Amino acid sequence: MTTDAPSSTEVTIRAEKTEDRLAVRRVHALAFGHHDPVPDLVDLLRSTAAPLAPLGLVATVGGEPVGHVMLSHSRLDAPRRLVNVWVLSPLGVEPDHQRRGVGTALVTAALKTAGLTGVPLVFLEGSPRYYGSRGFESASALGFRAPSLRIPDPAFQVARMPAYEPWMTGTLVYSDPFWALDCVGLRDPQA
Ligand SMILES: CC(C)(COP(=O)(O)OP(=O)(O)OC[C@H]1O[C@@H](n2cnc3c(N)ncnc32)[C@H](O)[C@@H]1OP(=O)(O)O)[C@@H](O)C(=O)NCCC(=O)NCCS
Repeated sequence: MTTDAPSSTEVTIRAEKTEDRLAVRRVHALAFGHHDPVPDLVDLLRSTAAPLAPLGLVATVGGEPVGHVMLSHSRLDAPRRLVNVWVLSPLGVEPDHQRRGVGTALVTAALKTAGLTGVPLVFLEGSPRYYGSRGFESASALGFRAPSLRIPDPAFQVARMPAYEPWMTGTLVYSDPFWALDCVGLRDPQA
């Protein structure tokens, strides 16, 4: 992460601004494909009231957003009480800027930001090969249950923050935008 004036190829990570919204839609459309609901998911997460307002970070090159990550509120249904947690989703980097560490820089900055909020856990669905070396571990191995049977067990991952306590087990309950846009788990393409 840099704070000085960036050079034309330098990657800068910063909090998203209102004026980034169209560029962020473009980043995710390029990263996930133009028919994917992810750009709409980002907008819906921003416009849905939640106990924790979503946090978005953009990666810029030459001042232009080329990557974006979002943290949004969900709940953990723990035995003692409901716990506010973050879900890290989506993460997208424009194809022309992939494999240069932009995604890693966004995940690193998102976890640092999450830790500063005092929220104990960050969940996601994704490749354990990618996220396993970037601060995440198997959620089911730690006693967490996924919000859908359509999430492959290895994909269900969590990062424990400084505020985490061992009694915080239970089921992740996704916020409604993930269900409203059918962005949970994998659908059976044969069904
Ligand atoms: C996943 C993604 C964000 C990675 O961004 P990036 O800037 O290319 O990531 P980095 O440069 O930090 O890391 C690149 C490494 O990640 C690996 N990687 C990329 N996508 C991966 C995936 N889906 N599964 C496993 N590894 C992956 C690359 O092979 C590369 O490995 P290498 O360094 O050994 O060659 C980017 O590929 C992307 O936007 N993909 C499309 C959207 C997506 O799938 N988002 C994640 C949803 S959970």
